[in-house]
Amino acid sequence: MNFDEQIIRKGSKSVKWDMAESLFLTKDALPMWVADMDFKAPQVVLDALKERLDHGVFGYAYQDQDTQQAVAGWLNRRHGWTIQTDTILFTPGVVTALSLAVQAFTATGDEVVIQSPVYAPFYQMIEKNGRKVSTNPLKIENDRYMMDFHDLEKKLSRPQAKLMFLCHPHNPSGRAWSSEELKRVGELCVKHGVTVVSDEIHSDLMLYGKPHVPFASLSDDIASITVTCFAPSKTFNLAGLQASAIVIPDEERRTLFTNEMQRNGMGHLNAFGIPAMEAAYRHGDEWLDSLVLYLESNIQIAMDYIDEHLPNVRYMKPDASYLLWIDIRDFQFTEAELKRNLLKRGKVILELGHVYGHEGDGFIRMNLGCPASTVKEGLRRLHQAFTPSTE
Ligand SMILES: Cc1ncc(COP(=O)(O)O)c(C=O)c1O
Repeated sequence: MNFDEQIIRKGSKSVKWDMAESLFLTKDALPMWVADMDFKAPQVVLDALKERLDHGVFGYAYQDQDTQQAVAGWLNRRHGWTIQTDTILFTPGVVTALSLAVQAFTATGDEVVIQSPVYAPFYQMIEKNGRKVSTNPLKIENDRYMMDFHDLEKKLSRPQAKLMFLCHPHNPSGRAWSSEELKRVGELCVKHGVTVVSDEIHSDLMLYGKPHVPFASLSDDIASITVTCFAPSKTFNLAGLQASAIVIPDEERRTLFTNEMQRNGMGHLNAFGIPAMEAAYRHGDEWLDSLVLYLESNIQIAMDYIDEHLPNVRYMKPDASYLLWIDIRDFQFTEAELKRNLLKRGKVILELGHVYGHEGDGFIRMNLGCPASTVKEGLRRLHQAFTPSTE
């Protein structure tokens, strides 16, 4: 594993590198936006994929008990959570699971509670299914997001509130919620009969030796109302293989979810997603431990650079993952100014905060899942973007 290696991704039909050109109308900007990393997958995954490729026959494939055992083994080994293998379902992505959950647990016009700012597809999967977004905005205290439990209970107690999407750890800020915070959320949801989708896609990327606490591991009552989403896609940079694991301990909810999968013609993962997921979850530990150290170092490089060179810029130090949520509210840029500064002056593509909801206004999200040399170049460009123009 050589995380310093610069791999040319342009021309590989990459969303991050190739689609950026048409989306942002720029040819020479450095892409540090969408959440995938510029690293090769672990060798154990590449070997499993090669073996599958060499087989040469790509008829229908299906995930089986081996796949479920690989997931259960991983959750037990990495997060100390023991689950029954038959509670695990598979979807071609976590976003798909969010949409299926909306269809399974709510009716048209119902409300789904989210904590904004948050990952943009949370909004889209609710609204595109004809349901209503109910926001419980996060509060900022000492450059850290905190939950507003008083407002949360207000939102959960509405009769139309049927579902909550929890983002744990939180994208865009990388905040991992504590056991105490999660328990309070869980108890409120149990009290008000609200099903929870806990999106834990970033949970394998906990930094600084902090443990991940699966929301559903906190009590049997909480487990019984929870759909937990995991995937090797962020962890091992396999997003393009589209394979996710969804844990639903409650049989009734699992049946409702499975019915929606069937209604949407969904069931089997693709022939490459299955061996990749199994290999990663069975043999990926060592690679992941090295990756996390590399990401910690990249995050440190970014924080040090901002502290030294960008006095008007703040950031939220993440507990997990490779995304840095940067606070540029001091500049009071309009959206047009911000885009112009980043794309034209700095020539760097970052996610603009408003896509996470209006509570994200005045923030930008920088993807540090890349070689340290790219991080440094991105920071140089960020500095250039925010250096007052003499034009
Ligand atoms: C919180 C969160 N959920 C889901 C996803 C995407 O999941 P998938 O690619 O499996 O649909 C992302 C990707 O950035 C994410 O950050």
